[in-house]
This record gives sequence, C-alpha cells and structure tokens, in this order.
Amino acid sequence: MNPVQAVDHAITTRMSARAFLPKPVDQQMLQDILEVARRAPSGTNTQPWKVYVLQGQSRDQLVDKVCAAHDAVRANPELAQQYRETYDYYPTEWVSPYIDRRRENGWSLYGLLGIGKADKDKMHHQHQRNFRFFDAPVGLMFTLDRIMGRGSLLDYGMFIQNIMVAARARGLHTCPQAAWNGFSSLILPHLKASEKEMLVCGMALGWADETEIVNTLVTPRETVASFTTWMS
Ligand SMILES: Cc1cc2nc3c(=O)[nH]c(=O)nc-3n(C[C@H](O)[C@H](O)[C@H](O)COP(=O)(O)O)c2cc1C
Repeated sequence: MNPVQAVDHAITTRMSARAFLPKPVDQQMLQDILEVARRAPSGTNTQPWKVYVLQGQSRDQLVDKVCAAHDAVRANPELAQQYRETYDYYPTEWVSPYIDRRRENGWSLYGLLGIGKADKDKMHHQHQRNFRFFDAPVGLMFTLDRIMGRGSLLDYGMFIQNIMVAARARGLHTCPQAAWNGFSSLILPHLKASEKEMLVCGMALGWADETEIVNTLVTPRETVASFTTWMS
C-alpha cells in the first residue's frame, strides 16, 4: 500500500467494534499508538488530553463497579440523579435529521442482535456491554481539565480519532464510548483523577471478534453533496 492507500484504509476500515477477543494487546503497541496520537493538533498547542489506560485489575474493578451501578439504577430509577453527565454530549432537545439518524443507528444495532422494542432485559444487557468495554482487554478513559473551554473538546476529538486510526493501522479495533459519562462520579475516583478533571469519554480497544454479528454492522453516511457547498 502506498501512503495514501494506507491512511485511507485505516480511516475507512475503522468502525465501532462491540465484541472483542480476550487476546492481550502488546504494551509496546499501546505506547506506539499514543506516541502517534499525541501529534494531534490543538488550539495554541494546548494538548488538553489526559489518558488513563486500564488493563487487568484496574479495568476489571471499574467494570464491576459501573455494572453494579447500572443494575442498581435499573432496579431503582431514582438513583439516576446521582449519575449525571458532566457535559452535554447530546442535545437536550432532539430534532430531525439527527433524531432520525440516531434512531436508525439504534434499531440497526438492536435489529442485528434480534432485540425488539419490548425486550427491556436484552436492551439493558446490551447497554451494559459498554461497561464491560465489550470484553476488550484495554479500556481507555479520557479526561479534560474543567478549566478548559469548549474548543478543547474539538482538539480532543482529533486526538481520539488519531488513537482510533493508529490502532486500526495496527490491526486493532476500537469503540469510542460516551456511555461511561453518566458514571463519572464512580470513574474519576477509581482513576484517582484530581478534582480539576472531568470525564470526556471512554474507549474500548483490542482485537475485534470478527465472528460476532454485532461487528458486521455497517453504518451509513450522508453523501458529500448533501453536506458540502462548493463556492467559487
Ligand atoms: C464520542 C463518541 C461516543 C460514542 N459512544 C458510544 C457508546 O457509548 N457506545 C457505543 O456502542 N457506541 C458509541 N459510539 C459509536 C457510534 O455509535 C458510532 O461511531 C456511529 O454509529 C458510527 O458508526 P461507526 O463508528 O461504526 O462508523 C460513540 C462514538 C463517538 C464518536
């Protein structure tokens, strides 16, 4: 592959994997991915990212804590008040066309898994797969100093995309995860993060299980013409 093909291949074969093999990820590979990712641009080179790499016990213990909380909220929905997201990742009011795409995404995923609208148990279970990092052996947590502005989230997105593309180039897969955000009051203490930090999102990273149907989901995209205005 020439460089153009290699970059395009890494970008276009990236997808959100939701089933991983128990196969470990080489430590040097993780280090190399972060070495490449840190070249991301950021406004005035502020480099606002802070990454926690969870493996082994640190990963498993966080999984246990958050899965227990997720189950507890299901049993007693009032507990949800304790678990609020620190920032609005999604809009408070959903409008078309975003709501339509969101719904399509959800039902494509659940449809593939044979989960119907009334299957609340199965839905809960599938949602909880997030809090097991979809069985990936590596979980990443990203935090940002609360003092930083909204623009830092733009920088952060570039950094996170760099991680996903660099991982893909090495044959690995990822799933960025905002699902964790509601549980930051459990996650930040687990990370021993300082009071200044807020959780941006999590990410599962590992070797995708290609035999799992969930990983066959191909998400659509709008055409270039639909979002581009060519001006002269
Ligand atoms: C910041 C961010 C957070 C996301 N959070 C989740 C999540 O919590 N759980 C999940 O299964 N997918 C999550 N996704 C994946 C999106 O659903 C996915 O990117 C989108 O449907 C497009 O599919 P693709 O990534 O396979 O191309 C997230 C994606 C991004 C960029």
